Amino acid sequence: MDRPSDKILILDFGSQYSQLIVRKIRELGVFSYIKPFNTPIDEILGDNPNGIIFSGGPASVYSIDSPKVDERIFDINLPILGICYGLQLIVQHFGGDIDRSAQREFGRAELQVSFDNDLPATLKLKRQAGLFKDVSNNSIVWMSHSDKVVSLPKDFSVIASTLNSDFAAVWNKKEKIFGLQFHPEVNHTTEGKKILQNFVVDICKCNRTWQPKNFIENTITEIKEKVGSDKVVCALSGGVDSTVSAVLVHEAIGDNLTCIHIDNGLMRKDESKNVVKFFQENLHSRLPHRYECGGQVKLRFVDASKIFLERLKGFEDPEDKRKIIGNTFIDVIEEEVSNLDDVKFLVQGTLYPDVIESVSVKGPSSVIKTHHNVGGLPERMKLTLIEPLRELFKDEVRLIGKELGISEEFLNRHPFPGPGLGVRILGEIDEVKLEILREADFIFINELNNFGIYHNVWQAFAVLLPVKSVGVMGDERTYENTIVLRAVTSTDGMTADWAKLDQDFLQHVSNRIVNEVRGVNRVVYDITSKPPATIEWE
Ligand code: XMP
Repeated sequence: MDRPSDKILILDFGSQYSQLIVRKIRELGVFSYIKPFNTPIDEILGDNPNGIIFSGGPASVYSIDSPKVDERIFDINLPILGICYGLQLIVQHFGGDIDRSAQREFGRAELQVSFDNDLPATLKLKRQAGLFKDVSNNSIVWMSHSDKVVSLPKDFSVIASTLNSDFAAVWNKKEKIFGLQFHPEVNHTTEGKKILQNFVVDICKCNRTWQPKNFIENTITEIKEKVGSDKVVCALSGGVDSTVSAVLVHEAIGDNLTCIHIDNGLMRKDESKNVVKFFQENLHSRLPHRYECGGQVKLRFVDASKIFLERLKGFEDPEDKRKIIGNTFIDVIEEEVSNLDDVKFLVQGTLYPDVIESVSVKGPSSVIKTHHNVGGLPERMKLTLIEPLRELFKDEVRLIGKELGISEEFLNRHPFPGPGLGVRILGEIDEVKLEILREADFIFINELNNFGIYHNVWQAFAVLLPVKSVGVMGDERTYENTIVLRAVTSTDGMTADWAKLDQDFLQHVSNRIVNEVRGVNRVVYDITSKPPATIEWE
């Protein structure tokens, strides 16, 4: 999809916070996107951003292999804001000094905005109208660095300091180049949003046009132009991403869209039934028609569970299982498409984090798990992908969904992985295990809802361990499976903490599962964060 005309480029030097910078700027209503630090200058100019932010990063500017920018970036007359490593890079480029042996400074610090009395009144005024406009003195900022600036280049001056950092914020008087030693993007920096807003809106002169309504209208126009009168299919898993994608495409092309819901046999209890029901109740006849088409969305339901389970037989390795599920999914879609006339496009709910992972500073990041919805289609299918959510984060998808009239209850459901219960039964999958897991998972989720705490966690589910242990029920010895309950808090799934669920609640869920689900005699709760664990068990 075309990007809005006003935008901020984030050059990524490997900071764990790069995505956060993007999100914070988008929250201000300004489009922002990430590219690797070594993006050629011509490509940057081609994008025509209003300003550039250098992210932080773990390297030291003095190491030989530290990431460097194309230095012509300093000659193109665009506002630049360097954060942490980005600040040090700017200072080094213009001839200042960085201390390599300084101690690490990590945590909160109080920011003193400088009021240098030697400065002429006009400059003081200019400074106040700049990066720190309306930022109060002694606000809290978040530091996380080892190297630090010890002397400034010519034409630079200090605009703020902290107890440990004389150069917490600097400014090149001649150009619109700024540097911050602290991280304005993290929530601990209490007035960070204001600082970013000053940079993006006042200094870079961006209009705040990144709004759900504009996104929807622009996307509808683009899809119409791209698709014309051709036919499109959308594989609808029933999750938020594919549903929002489908509705968006439907708004653009109406009847020329056919959605296909495939039951891969790895769904939760009643999942496929509920998807079809939700579809009939909410999407079949979408009223009021907020945007263009509204009306009926066509849905085909395909029960392919037998094929999936047959092909998975005998496989234990998670990566093998993921590949089999991904390939079978493509085979089933291909078969369905061949039954329809003139299909030229396939809609996929790819999100921005999937896209930037492959362009991150480390290069295509090492494969931790193969997520089957990333990786494209075999060429033989001759279908072009439509990925209307490719530029969006999950929270933005929810906002778009809301604007499209999809219920919030649906939009705020926990994420569910493409390979479904296939990666929640450790080792080989069979019908008996699937049935046990479905029942246990249903009880857990049902009770989270009953206790009104479903939305307190980011994701919750049950996992079946193929490990039998001894128990006693009534007077009988049992030798049965173990169920793991997993619940995490997170903002985006990239990192997560185990949810501190109430002990009485856990006990209640455990009792219900052991009493009601045949084949389970033990329930454990996973108390590992991500990292070092992942959210799913496979
Ligand atoms: P992990 O286990 O990697 O999960 O910490 C992070 C988030 O991604 C989901 N997930 C997947 N989603 N296909 C998907 O569509 C997959 O293969 C897959 N594996 C994990 C997981 O549920 C969590 O929300």
